[in-house]
Amino acid sequence: MQRLGRSWQRAGARVGLVPTMGCLHDAHLSLVRRARRAVGPRGRVVVSIYVNPTQFAPGEDFARYPRDLARDCGLCRAAGVDVIFAPSDRQMYARGADGDFSTFVSEESLARGMEGAARPTHFRGVTTVVAKLFHLVQPEVAIFGAKDYQQAAIIKRMVRDLNFPVKIIVAPIRRERDGLAMSSRNRYLTGDLRRQAVVLWQALQRARAAVRPPGKTIPAARLKAALRRFIARTPAARLDYMEFFDPATLTPVAKVRRGVHLALAVFVGGTRLIDNTRL
Ligand code: PAJ
Repeated sequence: MQRLGRSWQRAGARVGLVPTMGCLHDAHLSLVRRARRAVGPRGRVVVSIYVNPTQFAPGEDFARYPRDLARDCGLCRAAGVDVIFAPSDRQMYARGADGDFSTFVSEESLARGMEGAARPTHFRGVTTVVAKLFHLVQPEVAIFGAKDYQQAAIIKRMVRDLNFPVKIIVAPIRRERDGLAMSSRNRYLTGDLRRQAVVLWQALQRARAAVRPPGKTIPAARLKAALRRFIARTPAARLDYMEFFDPATLTPVAKVRRGVHLALAVFVGGTRLIDNTRL
């Protein structure tokens, strides 16, 4: 992959990368289209498909995370992807007589709250694998989704702090018709759980409505309490965290007004879902 990336770069081709963990859905394909728009018809679009073990903690869903490379390849082909990079664990994380993989990239400020607090080793795995993908593919642009808002902010910070010559584009959240954000993990939602999963979207809508009047402010604690009560009305839902924060710095705010960002993680049955929106 690195040899190919370097040869494209020498030939002056524009290269766009869409990092994924596969089991592709329409939101992933919207990132592919965004990459194509960024690099043009003569550019190269690379989709990486790799379920990255270092961003899963023990006890999380790494082993059962859905994988379907054959289907993913068909979707990528139809979407005009030039190259699919689907390395194995052994290729990505060396083990050898001289020692195993032991170098990590960690962002140490933005990664502390929210997903980082709930999943302490998660973002170190994400920044490490994305840094590796940037070195391997050598893209000019990389596309990330706003669905993982904190992840995108951390990647942008890593790129700035470590001088990666990559432009980061953040594409909007894609949703199902009822508002549920598309996710590979939605496959876990069987039967009635799928219907109950719309509670994340409904909570976001309620928060938006609460601060819709221009100039309106509400103490974050009060709005959190109201949304917590709302979520509790859905039997299978259990709130993991909810945070109102400044969209640029990710620091929590005490007063909620328009322009503040809201992110939440909710277990629906055994499936952990995340969502976010600008109010
Ligand atoms: P994955 O969950 O497969 O997501 C790949 C990309 O698709 C991410 O940038 C994510 O934000 C975006 N995405 C997923 N669902 C979306 C939706 N409903 N709307 C818009 N974008 C969406 O995120 C990862 O993989 C991994 O952490 C990765 C960055 C590949 C590193 O391993």
